[in-house]
Amino acid sequence: MSQPTLVKGGRIPSPMVRTTQGEPCERLREIVLRHQQTEFLRPIALHTVREFERVAEVASEIAGDGLVLDAGCGTGDSTRQLALLHPKHVILAVDRSQARISRAKQALSGLPNVIIARANLVDFWRLSLQSGWHFDYQYLLYPNPSPKKRQIKRRWHAHPVLPTILKLGGRLELRTNWDIYAKEFYSALELCGFPAKLERFAPQQPISAFERKYLESGHPLFRVISDLMDAGTEP
Ligand SMILES: C[S@@+](CC[C@H](N)C(=O)[O-])C[C@H]1O[C@@H](n2cnc3c(N)ncnc32)[C@H](O)[C@@H]1O
Repeated sequence: MSQPTLVKGGRIPSPMVRTTQGEPCERLREIVLRHQQTEFLRPIALHTVREFERVAEVASEIAGDGLVLDAGCGTGDSTRQLALLHPKHVILAVDRSQARISRAKQALSGLPNVIIARANLVDFWRLSLQSGWHFDYQYLLYPNPSPKKRQIKRRWHAHPVLPTILKLGGRLELRTNWDIYAKEFYSALELCGFPAKLERFAPQQPISAFERKYLESGHPLFRVISDLMDAGTEP
């Protein structure tokens, strides 16, 4: 068997998203509209409430212009860049993976405007909204694609938490290496009344670990950007 051509740093190239889904899901409209019309009632985990309270307390002690959310921050590479891009904002870096959050904590120690939290985003977003928070910027960088058609409800645009994300306001940016994810995300925003822009793009510098991996492997990259209506307040 032939060996794969290695990419920069001697790494094995990342495979493209493997899926049998060739088009945006035909059930997307029905799913998104149903979530818009129903209340998401799943109980919020106590450990996330505690983590959120800790974050809120730390955030209230930092003088910042507003909040930026790095949702699913992974190892924190993107968080560092967002802290440089938005130096007067407080950057909240949230991920549920203990291993990745530990690496992020090491990599980001000493950055005064960054708060790192290990939490499930589904509950973190809902607690943020319940607390009347508003984000100036929300970044969803390379979320897990959940590429099997039956997994559609795991994609953020088809998850019952989407209406919560949209109410948190600010400029929302999604990046992905899967065109179908980008198209579905774009359509979901439009269905919810938020005009969006979808484009293929080629960053000069990768913003995150996954973006670097995909760039080095020659994947096409897509982003969807939308300015959501302002809502809520800061902590
Ligand atoms: C593909 S990785 C991308 C990481 C990073 N944004 C990047 O671009 O390098 C997706 C990340 O989302 C996190 N994640 C997925 N679902 C989550 C959830 N419900 N709550 C918190 N984090 C989640 C995973 O732990 C993982 O670190």
